[in-house]
Amino acid sequence: MKVSDAVVQRKSIREFLNIPVSSELVKSLLIKASRAASGGNLQPWKIFVLNGKSMDDFLKFQQAWDDPEQPAYAIYPPKLKEPYRTSRFELGEQMYALLGIPREDKDARIAQVMKNFEFFGAPCAFFCYVDRQMGPPQWSDLGMFLQTFMLLAQEVGLDTCAQEAWSMKHDSVSKFLQSDEEDILFCGMCIGKKNEHAVVNSLNSERRPLDTWAKFI
Ligand SMILES: Cc1cc2nc3c(=O)[nH]c(=O)nc-3n(C[C@H](O)[C@H](O)[C@H](O)COP(=O)(O)O)c2cc1C
Repeated sequence: MKVSDAVVQRKSIREFLNIPVSSELVKSLLIKASRAASGGNLQPWKIFVLNGKSMDDFLKFQQAWDDPEQPAYAIYPPKLKEPYRTSRFELGEQMYALLGIPREDKDARIAQVMKNFEFFGAPCAFFCYVDRQMGPPQWSDLGMFLQTFMLLAQEVGLDTCAQEAWSMKHDSVSKFLQSDEEDILFCGMCIGKKNEHAVVNSLNSERRPLDTWAKFI
């Protein structure tokens, strides 16, 4: 597969088939993804993979957890500026329109959001942590790593969805993983095969045109 094909074909999948994913394959993808560039070659990512029994155990643990949790970080700035606000709004509206969920049906919208916490049915996933000492440059390195992983997954016929939603479950996830207190959870990553018939997976997110975000000087 050409890199450009992987880039075009990758999209966030929000309904997976219950087809097992090989841990060996995920390991090889992670090793390749670690070729991603990072400032000073810090390689600041810390990854916890859930697969098979560990996924089952995690989901049971998560369902039983009822302590209130502090979000690890604010996913979006409190007063998101334009054009970002509109992009975010339109993504949500497109997804809920596809799913036939009107704006007034808050319960159905929340139920859709809650599917994040079942990894949208993906049989395999990982969590990406980073040392709290790290700042924006290293957090951007995580993005390089995650995108590289997602493209490599495409190449072997696996689909993905990055999930910042898990930042809202920082305490329970960290307790299950027994992660280091010095580390903070950035996001989850669903891994599996997409359900091609799921309406939600037909969502094609839009992009703002180049002349709105790039200037050739
Ligand atoms: C770091 C990161 C975190 C994300 N978190 C979530 C999430 O919690 N839930 C979700 O449904 N999608 C999540 N997404 C997917 C974005 O909504 C998606 O990438 C964006 O709408 C563009 O669509 P595409 O990935 O299909 O091209 C996340 C994406 C990234 C890169």
